[in-house]
Amino acid sequence: MKITFKINGESISKDIKPSLLLIDFIRDGLGLKGTKPGCLEGECGACTVIVDGLAINSCMYLAININGKEITTIEGLGTKENPLDKVQEKMVEHGAVQCGFCTPGMVMTTKAYSDKCIAEGIIPTQEEVKKSLEGNLCRCTGYAKIIEASEAVYKQER
Ligand code: FES
Ligand code: FES
Repeated sequence: MKITFKINGESISKDIKPSLLLIDFIRDGLGLKGTKPGCLEGECGACTVIVDGLAINSCMYLAININGKEITTIEGLGTKENPLDKVQEKMVEHGAVQCGFCTPGMVMTTKAYSDKCIAEGIIPTQEEVKKSLEGNLCRCTGYAKIIEASEAVYKQER
Protein backbone atom coordinates (compact mmCIF):
# COMPACT_ATOMS: atom_id res chain seq x y z
CA MET A 1 0.00 0.00 0.00
CA LYS A 2 1.32 3.43 -0.89
CA ILE A 3 1.32 6.07 1.83
CA THR A 4 2.25 9.75 1.65
CA PHE A 5 3.14 11.71 4.75
CA LYS A 6 5.39 14.39 6.13
CA ILE A 7 8.08 13.50 8.66
CA ASN A 8 10.28 16.09 10.38
CA GLY A 9 9.24 18.56 7.70
CA GLU A 10 10.03 16.32 4.71
CA SER A 11 7.29 14.96 2.40
CA ILE A 12 7.72 11.25 1.62
CA SER A 13 5.80 8.53 -0.27
CA LYS A 14 6.49 4.84 0.38
CA ASP A 15 5.05 1.44 -0.40
CA ILE A 16 4.57 -0.54 2.81
CA LYS A 17 2.90 -3.68 4.10
CA PRO A 18 -0.43 -2.95 5.83
CA SER A 19 0.73 -4.87 8.93
CA LEU A 20 3.93 -2.84 9.42
CA LEU A 21 4.19 -1.14 12.82
CA LEU A 22 5.09 2.54 12.85
CA ILE A 23 8.11 1.98 15.12
CA ASP A 24 9.59 -0.53 12.65
CA PHE A 25 8.86 1.74 9.71
CA ILE A 26 10.51 4.71 11.42
CA ARG A 27 13.60 2.82 12.59
CA ASP A 28 14.17 0.31 9.79
CA GLY A 29 12.31 1.83 6.83
CA LEU A 30 13.42 5.41 7.36
CA GLY A 31 16.62 4.82 9.36
CA LEU A 32 15.56 7.10 12.22
CA LYS A 33 16.92 5.21 15.21
CA GLY A 34 16.22 7.85 17.87
CA THR A 35 12.75 6.39 18.50
CA LYS A 36 13.43 3.57 20.96
CA PRO A 37 11.88 0.10 21.19
CA GLY A 38 11.26 -0.71 24.85
CA CYS A 39 8.39 -2.92 25.95
CA LEU A 40 6.72 -3.04 22.51
CA GLU A 41 3.35 -3.34 24.24
CA GLY A 42 2.30 0.23 24.94
CA GLU A 43 3.58 0.44 28.52
CA CYS A 44 6.89 2.31 28.59
CA GLY A 45 6.57 5.26 26.17
CA ALA A 46 10.13 4.90 24.83
CA CYS A 47 8.71 4.73 21.30
CA THR A 48 6.69 7.96 21.52
CA VAL A 49 6.43 10.13 18.41
CA ILE A 50 4.07 12.98 17.54
CA VAL A 51 1.39 12.41 14.88
CA ASP A 52 -0.65 15.47 13.94
CA GLY A 53 0.17 17.08 17.28
CA LEU A 54 -0.63 14.05 19.44
CA ALA A 55 1.95 11.93 21.28
CA ILE A 56 1.42 8.26 20.36
CA ASN A 57 3.15 4.97 21.10
CA SER A 58 4.57 3.98 17.74
CA CYS A 59 4.79 0.32 18.84
CA MET A 60 0.98 0.22 18.99
CA TYR A 61 0.26 2.11 15.78
CA LEU A 62 0.20 0.82 12.23
CA ALA A 63 2.37 2.74 9.79
CA ILE A 64 -0.48 2.94 7.25
CA ASN A 65 -2.29 5.24 9.69
CA ILE A 66 0.21 8.04 9.05
CA ASN A 67 -1.06 8.39 5.48
CA GLY A 68 -1.80 12.09 4.91
CA LYS A 69 -0.46 13.04 8.35
CA GLU A 70 2.50 14.91 9.79
CA ILE A 71 4.94 13.08 12.07
CA THR A 72 7.69 14.42 14.28
CA THR A 73 10.36 12.16 15.74
CA ILE A 74 13.20 13.11 18.06
CA GLU A 75 15.34 13.76 14.96
CA GLY A 76 12.91 16.56 14.05
CA LEU A 77 13.84 18.52 17.18
CA GLY A 78 17.27 19.98 17.95
CA THR A 79 20.52 18.11 17.44
CA LYS A 80 24.11 18.69 18.53
CA GLU A 81 24.60 20.72 15.37
CA ASN A 82 21.29 22.63 15.46
CA PRO A 83 19.68 24.56 18.31
CA LEU A 84 18.03 22.28 20.83
CA ASP A 85 14.29 22.42 21.31
CA LYS A 86 13.39 24.06 24.64
CA VAL A 87 12.28 20.68 26.00
CA GLN A 88 15.72 19.23 25.27
CA GLU A 89 17.43 22.30 26.73
CA LYS A 90 15.55 21.90 30.01
CA MET A 91 16.32 18.16 30.15
CA VAL A 92 20.02 18.99 29.88
CA GLU A 93 19.91 21.93 32.32
CA HIS A 94 18.10 19.87 34.96
CA GLY A 95 20.24 16.74 34.60
CA ALA A 96 17.19 14.72 33.60
CA VAL A 97 19.13 12.21 31.48
CA GLN A 98 21.14 9.23 32.67
CA CYS A 99 21.35 6.27 30.25
CA GLY A 100 19.11 8.23 27.86
CA PHE A 101 17.01 5.31 26.66
CA CYS A 102 13.72 6.81 27.79
CA THR A 103 14.70 10.37 26.87
CA PRO A 104 13.41 10.59 23.28
CA GLY A 105 10.00 9.40 24.47
CA MET A 106 10.01 11.78 27.45
CA VAL A 107 10.96 14.67 25.17
CA MET A 108 8.31 13.89 22.55
CA THR A 109 5.58 13.50 25.18
CA THR A 110 6.55 16.78 26.82
CA LYS A 111 6.83 18.51 23.44
CA ALA A 112 3.30 17.49 22.42
CA TYR A 113 1.83 18.42 25.80
CA SER A 114 3.66 21.76 26.04
CA ASP A 115 2.63 22.73 22.49
CA LYS A 116 -0.99 21.96 23.42
CA CYS A 117 -0.77 23.94 26.67
CA ILE A 118 0.80 26.92 24.92
CA ALA A 119 -1.81 26.84 22.13
CA GLU A 120 -4.60 26.77 24.73
CA GLY A 121 -2.97 29.29 27.09
CA ILE A 122 -2.78 26.75 29.91
CA ILE A 123 -0.04 26.61 32.54
CA PRO A 124 -0.25 23.10 34.00
CA THR A 125 0.13 22.35 37.68
CA GLN A 126 2.85 19.99 38.88
CA GLU A 127 0.22 17.26 39.22
CA GLU A 128 -0.88 17.81 35.61
CA VAL A 129 2.75 17.69 34.46
CA LYS A 130 3.22 14.40 36.31
CA LYS A 131 0.02 13.03 34.79
CA SER A 132 1.15 14.03 31.30
CA LEU A 133 4.24 11.83 31.77
CA GLU A 134 2.54 8.84 33.36
CA GLY A 135 2.85 6.81 30.15
CA ASN A 136 6.63 7.19 30.08
CA LEU A 137 8.81 4.98 32.26
CA CYS A 138 12.40 5.65 33.33
CA ARG A 139 14.50 3.07 35.13
CA CYS A 140 17.35 5.46 35.99
CA THR A 141 16.43 8.92 37.21
CA GLY A 142 13.68 8.47 39.78
CA TYR A 143 11.59 10.99 37.81
CA ALA A 144 12.23 14.07 40.00
CA LYS A 145 14.65 15.63 37.50
CA ILE A 146 12.41 14.81 34.57
CA ILE A 147 9.41 16.44 36.25
CA GLU A 148 11.56 19.47 37.14
CA ALA A 149 12.75 19.77 33.54
CA SER A 150 9.23 19.43 32.20
CA GLU A 151 7.88 22.05 34.62
CA ALA A 152 10.67 24.42 33.59
CA VAL A 153 9.42 24.25 29.99
CA TYR A 154 6.10 25.73 31.10
CA LYS A 155 7.70 28.26 33.47
CA GLN A 156 9.75 29.55 30.55
CA GLU A 157 6.51 30.31 28.72
CA ARG A 158 5.02 32.44 31.50
S1 FES B 1 8.04 0.41 23.21
FE1 FES B 1 6.17 1.36 22.78
S2 FES B 1 5.29 1.76 24.72
FE2 FES B 1 7.10 0.64 25.18
S1 FES C 1 17.49 7.80 31.72
FE1 FES C 1 17.77 5.64 31.65
S2 FES C 1 15.76 4.85 31.36
FE2 FES C 1 15.47 6.97 31.72
